[in-house]
Amino acid sequence: MVDLKGRSFLTLKDFTKEEIEYLLDLAGTLKANKKKGITGNSLKGKNIALIFEKPSTRTRCSFTIGCIDEGGHPEYLGKDDIQLGHKESIEDTARVLGRMFDGIEFRGFKQEYVEKLAKYSGVPVWNGLTDDYHPTQILADFLTLKEQFGKVEGLKFVYVGDGRNNMANSLMIGSAKMGVHFTILAPKDLWPEQGLVELCEGYAKESGATITVSDDIHAVEGADALYTDVWCSMGEEDKAAERIALLKPYQVNKELVKLTKKDSTVVMHCLPAVKGNEITEEVFEDNAEVIFDEAENRMHTIKAVMVATLGE
Ligand code: CP
Ligand code: NVA
Repeated sequence: MVDLKGRSFLTLKDFTKEEIEYLLDLAGTLKANKKKGITGNSLKGKNIALIFEKPSTRTRCSFTIGCIDEGGHPEYLGKDDIQLGHKESIEDTARVLGRMFDGIEFRGFKQEYVEKLAKYSGVPVWNGLTDDYHPTQILADFLTLKEQFGKVEGLKFVYVGDGRNNMANSLMIGSAKMGVHFTILAPKDLWPEQGLVELCEGYAKESGATITVSDDIHAVEGADALYTDVWCSMGEEDKAAERIALLKPYQVNKELVKLTKKDSTVVMHCLPAVKGNEITEEVFEDNAEVIFDEAENRMHTIKAVMVATLGE
């Protein structure tokens, strides 16, 4: 019996396959209920802080709506609204918020910050994206894969683009835990850290997953899903020229999709997308249904994380 009460959600490294499956199943149930007009009371009387150092559409709205649907109260704390990062340390901010709020979401730069928030606040803390990881996005991606293929285990999943960003890291961890055959297709300069690859290879041994890192575009052959993300993550905008030069051969376009040699391959994107860079408008529109299912699933999966860790 999985029990996640009181747990923080900082990286998928901390979660077992069984626990991730539990969150996906709970999200599926919450989604089906919401479609029938049924919402819950699981977060009644709970106050939830939403700290955003970086901007957000999907994550912010998902935490806000997920919380309100379950009877809780969300409070948005933007980077210029609070003392954090200006006058006050993360440790002190954590101890103050922990006295007032029942749960805290954090989106920002340093993974160390979200970890310190969890350590010092004493309440569940959820990672809404850091430079290193974006774990709630992976739950939405896997729920979408389950809806498309009926399963995630055994699928061939190829991530194309900046192979060392938060999405590549988190997809690799999630895939390794869940038994997905995962490939990062990226130029060598943008390969993930070797230490993380080795950690994921360890998870993969247990789950039956395989982890491949390649710079050969033919690695997409046989892919059930191709996945891409922006070439410059938030905070890296000054690297645009360098990234475009490195990543142009790895654009997800018709030619790359053809190299899968499959008609059934779906193309996914966490959004926001820069069309003309990592994905062409044509491929994006061909796959818009799946991509916007993914966006919607952010809300159901984030709600599941809050309900599982904080709900009554
Ligand atoms: N995918 C995602 O995290 O989107 P936002 O940056 O809009 O939250
Ligand atoms: N890698 C992207 C993901 C956005 C959801 C970024 O960090 O900006």
